[in-house]
Amino acid sequence: MNTEALSRLPVPAYHYHDSVPSTNDLARDWAESGAPDGAIVITDEQTAGRGRMSRRWLTPPGCALALSLVLHPTAQEMTKPALFSPLGGLALAIALEERYTLTPEIKWPNDVLLNGRKTSGILAESLWQDGAVQAVILGIGVNVAPPSVPPADQVQFPATCVETAAGRPVDRINLLDALLHALFYWRARLTTPAFLHAWEKRLAFMGEPVQLTRIGQPPITGRLTGITPLGELRLTMPNGEKKNFPAGDLHLRRIGKNPVQ
Ligand code: BTN
Repeated sequence: MNTEALSRLPVPAYHYHDSVPSTNDLARDWAESGAPDGAIVITDEQTAGRGRMSRRWLTPPGCALALSLVLHPTAQEMTKPALFSPLGGLALAIALEERYTLTPEIKWPNDVLLNGRKTSGILAESLWQDGAVQAVILGIGVNVAPPSVPPADQVQFPATCVETAAGRPVDRINLLDALLHALFYWRARLTTPAFLHAWEKRLAFMGEPVQLTRIGQPPITGRLTGITPLGELRLTMPNGEKKNFPAGDLHLRRIGKNPVQ
């Protein structure tokens, strides 16, 4: 990684490592010992990267982005804490549009898809102190070059990487720079209707039949009609009833079609 370029990123402080177990764990430790708002921990490789719902996240060396932001939420932001992980997805989607003229979609709540395949994952974790959220650790992983794409038998959803979609080499720090600019721009608008509009505009499977699954529970099917101001998924059920679902441990997929077409 071009570590010299890291010093030009729009962040107040950063810690770079060649290899760590998980950037979310290091960012959490740093948040506990006074990391400023917007600080990032970035690594070339993760040996124990974590995903949502206790899944593993692979970050081989030299081919991916893996970083965690330390965000100290304001009282206003804490009225809609579920929007932090979509903020990461939206920022990456905009970075891919603006720097690489790609047309990403966001699979609710925050997975960024390129050509219908997952290219990134986001894991937002809260650090509590004295009964309040002291920091949100926003972990972002992006498959940049082909070796970062996990084998098909190890993923729940088909995966790809930015270089495959762009058809050219992608500099990781250049992509990260665009991602961070978009992230801080939209963070300042996190609780506004404009944020929801920007997110919904890129939402995958809009108007299509989808299935929500949760381990140990029967699947829920409905037609995806959008998101609520709190970031919940809006579905119209087969009987016409409208229902909202908070992200939590739900897994979304399109039904009636192969996920990749
Ligand atoms: C998912 O799709 O399940 C979320 C994956 C989140 C991966 C990122 S990579 C940087 C940060 N460190 C981790 O251990 N996980 C997140």
